[in-house]
Amino acid sequence: MDRSDIYTVVTENLTKVYRMGKVNVEALRGVDLRVRKGELMAVVGPSGSGKSTLLNLMGALDKPTTGRVFIDGVDVGKLSDFELADLRARKIGFVFQFFNLIHRMNALRNVALPMVFTGVSRREREERAMKLLELVGLRDKWRHRPSELSGGEQQRVAVARALANNPSIILADEPTGNLDTKTGEEIIGMLLKLNKGMGQTIVIVTHEKHVSDVCERIVYLRDGLVEREVVRKT
Ligand SMILES: Nc1ncnc2c1ncn2[C@@H]1O[C@H](COP(=O)(O)OP(=O)(O)OP(=O)(O)O)[C@@H](O)[C@H]1O
Ligand SMILES: [Mg+2]
Repeated sequence: MDRSDIYTVVTENLTKVYRMGKVNVEALRGVDLRVRKGELMAVVGPSGSGKSTLLNLMGALDKPTTGRVFIDGVDVGKLSDFELADLRARKIGFVFQFFNLIHRMNALRNVALPMVFTGVSRREREERAMKLLELVGLRDKWRHRPSELSGGEQQRVAVARALANNPSIILADEPTGNLDTKTGEEIIGMLLKLNKGMGQTIVIVTHEKHVSDVCERIVYLRDGLVEREVVRKT
């Protein structure tokens, strides 16, 4: 299976079982998904339906119980831990609900951090981080630590950080879940611009209809399965 010319991430019959003592939780029960290059996809579904589990597997943050994940044609199950960490750093940009910035680092250093892991020189890291901060409208706040930024600004730093290594895909897990409506719309507007303007492939997990409404494809998860998919004209 290699259609990496068309697909950024492909999942094949993905299952994930969490063992909780004697109880097994079947978080995913066989998910086949293909994310096309340049696609903007929403994943929606009730709480506990497996959205975060799926996103973590798509980004090789976690390993499936059975099934396979291909990222740019690479079967991530065949990689060593070292190769996996390298692939993750180069190809995946994560954006989380609670920003997950490093609190003792200023905005510039937060954005530059992923480039430390890919061997970019300090000078180049700082130049690129500054450009990315400019892209998200925070050039003048590069010195601010997360606690000195609003929630929306922190999420913009997180988006800039996700872009640091020019990833194949951005995976965003409820990126607006912790923001007020207006600020959330700004973040979505930014992701939309990255997708439309730069062709950035993006998957967004969301509970909000106004977010999924801007996506080309909406994947509905229920009880660990894809219940249906809706392709929309945008
Ligand atoms: N680390 C874990 N250990 C055990 N069970 C887990 C773990 N992570 C998730 N689960 C269980 O797996 C199922 C799917 O969880 P998941 O976090 O993927 O749902 P979700 O769709 O993202 O929900 P939400 O909308 O609330 O974020 C749930 O039943 C959850 O309790
Ligand atoms: Mg979740």
